Amino acid sequence: MEMKIALGSDHGGYELKETIQNWLEAHGYKTEDFGTYNTQSCDYSDYAALVAEAIITGNARFGILVCGTGIGMSIAANKVQGIRAALCHECFSAKMSRAHNDANILCLGQRVTGSGLALEIVETWLKSEFEGGRHQRRVDKVAALEQA
Ligand code: RB5
Repeated sequence: MEMKIALGSDHGGYELKETIQNWLEAHGYKTEDFGTYNTQSCDYSDYAALVAEAIITGNARFGILVCGTGIGMSIAANKVQGIRAALCHECFSAKMSRAHNDANILCLGQRVTGSGLALEIVETWLKSEFEGGRHQRRVDKVAALEQA
């Protein structure tokens, strides 16, 4: 199954975003890069919005967002209805964010996580599947909070 991954970063995550895109393409994933395209200072919220929209509209199945810490990206992306963005610093959380939380965006911090570990986190996250069942009920309750 071809799976398209939407990518985005600010200047603080630009290099890791490029590294991740190269890795994904080399491993058979289709990607779309929503920027930023250089290291000039910019606002992470703009790229979080673009990647979130790509997922909500069905243009991409998953998204990966990178900023300096991953925090700004995760805060911004989680404001968008239907987005479940998980900021991960290690593989266990990455796996569980798919298995239990059905995360549709992975957030990473370029100034926190080295590129080798970041790629392992990406691989783990993409290979992990949502378990559904009781976790679906919880995800549905989280979605209900968006309507409150
Ligand atoms: C940019 O300096 C930095 O604040 C940003 O990349 C990110 O870490 C915000 O959460």
